[in-house]
Amino acid sequence: MTPGTADLTVRTLGECRIDSPLVALPADGPTTEHYVREDDRVLFDDTLQMVAARGLDSGELPGFEPTGPRRKIFFQPSKTRVGIVTCGGLCPGLNDVIRGLVRELNDHYGVKKIYGFRNGYQGFISKYGREVVELTPQSVSGINEYGGTILGTSRGEQDADEIVDCLEHMSINVLFVIGGDGSMRGALRIADTVQERNLKIAVVGVPKTIDNDIPYIDQSFGFQTAFAKATESIRGASVEARAVPNGVGLVHVMGRHSGFIACYAALANNDADYVLIPEVPFELDGENGFLAHLRRRVERRGRAVVVAAEGAGQEFLADATHPGHDASGNRRLRDIGQFLRHRIADHFAEHGLEMNMKYIDPSYAIRSVPANPYDSVHCIRLAHAAVHAAMAGRTAMVVGRWRGRFVHVPISLAISKRNQVDPHGDLWMSVLEATGQPRTFG
Ligand code: F6P
Repeated sequence: MTPGTADLTVRTLGECRIDSPLVALPADGPTTEHYVREDDRVLFDDTLQMVAARGLDSGELPGFEPTGPRRKIFFQPSKTRVGIVTCGGLCPGLNDVIRGLVRELNDHYGVKKIYGFRNGYQGFISKYGREVVELTPQSVSGINEYGGTILGTSRGEQDADEIVDCLEHMSINVLFVIGGDGSMRGALRIADTVQERNLKIAVVGVPKTIDNDIPYIDQSFGFQTAFAKATESIRGASVEARAVPNGVGLVHVMGRHSGFIACYAALANNDADYVLIPEVPFELDGENGFLAHLRRRVERRGRAVVVAAEGAGQEFLADATHPGHDASGNRRLRDIGQFLRHRIADHFAEHGLEMNMKYIDPSYAIRSVPANPYDSVHCIRLAHAAVHAAMAGRTAMVVGRWRGRFVHVPISLAISKRNQVDPHGDLWMSVLEATGQPRTFG
C-alpha cells in the first residue's frame, strides 16, 4: 500500500525551545537561508499520475520532512551526550559517517561528549564488557581514508532494556545507529523502550547496506563504491573469457535478496551476457533454459560473461538440511556461484563442447574498501542531516535521500518492506537491453 501522511510522520521528543547555535553561521557567511521550515515537506509522489490518484488538495499531499538545521532545537548542546554505534556487515563509508557525525556535533553544535560503543549492540551489554571509546575531532581525523569501522561491528539483536539501561547510566541523550534493516529494527525497539520509560533520548539511524535494499531511500551509502569494485571483477572475467577458446567468465557478487549490485556492476561494465538476480527466477535446464542459452551464445560468439547475485537461484540449492539463519536473522544462503560453476561445466561436457571457465568471487573485497568520493559526499551529508534531526528532538527515524532530496524517514517505514529490483521496471529493462538475455529462461 502507498504510504499516507500518518506513515511519514516522524516522532519527536517534544517542543524545540532552544535557539540553534548555528544561528551565527549565515551571519558571517553567505546570506542564504539554511534553516528548514518546520512545516515544509518533500512530496512523496513525483508524477502527475501519482498525485492525481490521491484525489487530495495540494496541502494534503503526503510528504517527508526535509532534513537540515532547525532554528529552534530540543537539546541544550552543552548538556548533550551522544552515543554512536555501527552494526551488521561492513559497508564502505562507515568511518566517513562516524567522522561526519563527530565533526558536526563538535564543530557546529558544540557537543563535546561523544562516545563510540564498540562492536555493535554488544557494546551496551555488560556480559561483553561494555567497551566504550571517547570520540573527538582528533580521534576521528583521517579515519575516512580506511575501510571498515573504527568502532567494530557485530550482527545480532541485544536486549533493548539493557541497552536503554546503559544509555541512562551514561546519561546519553542522543544515539546514532549506523546499520542495516536488522539494526534499524533494534533501533526502533530502543526508541520504543525509551518512550515507555518516558525518557528523552533521541534514536536516529543512518541506514547502511551495500545491497541497497532499504525502501523509501533512493540509494544507501556504500552501494556505489561496492558495485564499482564489483565492476572490476566483471572486467577481469571478460578479459579472461576473451583470451581463451570458448571462455566463460562467471562472477559471483553479494546481494542476498536484492540484485542491485549485480545489475549496476553489469551495466557499468556492459560486458556481461547474463545477469542472474534473486528477484527474477530462472530455469536451468531445457532448450530454453539458462544452460542451453549460454552454450549457444558461446558457440556463436566464442565467449560469455555471467554475473550471478548470491541470492539468485536459491531454489536449486534447497534440500532437507536447512542452513539456518545468521545472528541478524537472515537466512543463510547456499553458494549459487559454485553450483553454477559445476552445472555449466557439466552441461558443456555433456554436449561435447570445450569450455574454459574463469570463476571470480570478489566476496568481501567489495565492501571492505574505503568509500569512493561520491559515497564520501553522501556519507557526510547524511551525517550532517542526522545530527540536525537529533538535535531537533527527532527520534525513531533514519535519514535518507528520496527522489534526490534528503529527508527524515520513520524507522517503521524503512523496515516495512525490502527495496528490490522490479522485474517490470526500467532498471531490469536496461539490464535486458545491455546483455541481450531473454526476459525469462525456460
Ligand atoms: O550487508 C549485506 C551483505 O553484504 C550481503 O550482501 C551478504 O549476504 C552479507 O552481507 C554477508 O555478510 P556477513 O558474511 O558479514 O554476515
